Amino acid sequence: MSDKKTAHVTGGSKGIGFGVAKILLKNGYNVAISGRKEKDLEEALLKLSDYKDQIIGIVSNVRKFEDEENAVSKIKEQFGNLDIVIANAGLGHFAPVDEMSIENWNDMIETNLTGAFHTLKASVEELKKS
Ligand SMILES: NC(=O)c1ccc[n+]([C@@H]2O[C@H](COP(=O)([O-])OP(=O)(O)OC[C@H]3O[C@@H](n4cnc5c(N)ncnc54)[C@H](OP(=O)(O)O)[C@@H]3O)[C@@H](O)[C@H]2O)c1
Repeated sequence: MSDKKTAHVTGGSKGIGFGVAKILLKNGYNVAISGRKEKDLEEALLKLSDYKDQIIGIVSNVRKFEDEENAVSKIKEQFGNLDIVIANAGLGHFAPVDEMSIENWNDMIETNLTGAFHTLKASVEELKKS
């Protein structure tokens, strides 16, 4: 078990999530970043190689509850604890109602809403312990 606090940043391979992960690392946290694209995770890990003992990348799609359960198992295996979850993975399709497709609407709901629920549901027992 690590004596450091551990954070999971979903969508940590890019953008805001990557920035949050970097700040947590600088402040001494263990960090797991996750996302769907392995290549983007690898590139992010390379950029954060100064912190290689503190960080792991996990391929996970927040739309799949079992992926998020698997992510929590990997985090426990690597660091022993999970203290902070940043349910950041998401996307935006911006359009007025008459132009928004059903497909794009469902894409947002399944990722930004159901995905965040999956992340928290998979993590909550570990968070209660910490
Ligand atoms: N940028 C803004 O101005 C803004 C404003 C309001 C809210 N937000 C919200 O803030 C969050 C981050 O935005 P951002 O601009 O940093 O986005 P971004 O640069 O497009 O990065 C999105 C991240 O989420 C991951 N992701 C997307 N779908 C996923 C899925 N199904 N499962 C797992 N990971 C997934 C992406 O990796 P993969 O593609 O590899 O999965 C990527 O790492 C989003 O939830 C966004 O809706 C952003």
